[in-house]
Amino acid sequence: MKIGILNGPNLNLLGTREPAIYGTATLADIEGALARIAESIGVSLVTAQSNSEGALIDVIHGWRGVVDGIVVNAGAYTHTSLALRDAFSATAIPFVEIHLSNIYAREPERRHSVLASAAVGMVCGLGADGYEYALRGLVRTLTSTRGSSSSA
Ligand code: DQA
Repeated sequence: MKIGILNGPNLNLLGTREPAIYGTATLADIEGALARIAESIGVSLVTAQSNSEGALIDVIHGWRGVVDGIVVNAGAYTHTSLALRDAFSATAIPFVEIHLSNIYAREPERRHSVLASAAVGMVCGLGADGYEYALRGLVRTLTSTRGSSSSA
């Protein structure tokens, strides 16, 4: 099984970006931890990050037929981008949405996700560890859906 880890705008600045909200782990730290977890459960990963909406859509298109599912933190595009949700719907790649912060406990404009209605599930508010939970949950869901032998 292959899973894509997709991060959107400003997540390249994790580690120094508003650490009181997003913590001190860098994106490299998070991707490194995920790589170790993925190896331990027999899953391979591909990763991508972009600050641009179109580039994120191109990554999703390019992962069609390549990945079995995607863990995505779309950053602020979560709240605005129908185009991103359309890319998931168009490719039919199952995805789990993750947010470091609890978007439902923040400013009103962050309390809605336009992606969520198309997602397998969402993890939010649990910091960097949320990526692990999202990965394990996605793999578990795909495994039970497809009856494959891997386990999360
Ligand atoms: C975020 C929450 C978004 O509202 C914000 O724009 C981000 C990060 C999170 O991980 O908590 O960039 O997705």
